[in-house]
Amino acid sequence: MTVDRRKFFAKLGGVAAVMAMTHEARADALEHYMMVEAAPAPGGAGSAPASMPASMAADKSPFPTAAQVEAQIDTRPVRRGTGNLFTSRNGNVKRLPPMPEKPTLVDYFNLRFTQTSNHCLQSANRALKNGMSEEIILACLLHDTVQELIKVDHGYWGAQMYEPYVPPKTAFAIRYHQALRFYPDKQYGYEYPDLYRRLYGFDYKPEPYIEQAWQTAKKSPWYYEARMVTVNDLYAFDPHVNPTLDQFTDLIGRHFKQPKEGLGYDHSPVAHMWRSISMPDHPL
Ligand SMILES: [Fe+2]
Ligand SMILES: [Fe+2]
Repeated sequence: MTVDRRKFFAKLGGVAAVMAMTHEARADALEHYMMVEAAPAPGGAGSAPASMPASMAADKSPFPTAAQVEAQIDTRPVRRGTGNLFTSRNGNVKRLPPMPEKPTLVDYFNLRFTQTSNHCLQSANRALKNGMSEEIILACLLHDTVQELIKVDHGYWGAQMYEPYVPPKTAFAIRYHQALRFYPDKQYGYEYPDLYRRLYGFDYKPEPYIEQAWQTAKKSPWYYEARMVTVNDLYAFDPHVNPTLDQFTDLIGRHFKQPKEGLGYDHSPVAHMWRSISMPDHPL
């Protein structure tokens, strides 16, 4: 999928608002925008354009700077790292459907991961078509779902939330995809996109902890797993593909350790994260 830059900027409140965002926030906003755009319209295919508009490719306007980005954090009512479930971009938040007593991963997909599921399904579908291992396909399927809870540092939050239930390789790939998306690797066909250069600013340099995570991942025997999430993530927005969770339920059954008490009620160290997604309207 490519992005209509003018439309994307308009959704975020205009060029000034985009320039006021942190680099990470802008990356997340872009990702969110692509998820929504890639989502199928009711009864039809997604609305994303199939090719990059010439106007965008030829855009020579200046990039924002980090200083411009930092200057306007306090001009917004909601922090950009807030999870999808906790805010609305259009009017009031919606009443959520009730969850089953013992919710499964599929229940969370169907009832709570509504803003991230299509993007993640597209990513997993691409990984499947590219012949990835089941651990990688599962990582792609889950990699951004924690953004329903929180967006900032979502690779870390996501890996933590899934760690008790998925293969170690899968958790590793979820954790490190966040950092790796900022670093090209031609060996595996991942290039830092011009689009990011334009949206993040020419002087963007990831924070030291992100760079350290990249270095750590590069030395890991599971680097490939994390890298493949970024490869299948970036090119996962196909408006003509509308994968469903049914394609992956067998894979989930093989690799996801569903707790018999239900996700959120197994007293695992991360059960509260699942409950927070299940019951985001609880005031405390
Ligand atoms: Fe991500
Ligand atoms: Fe993603």
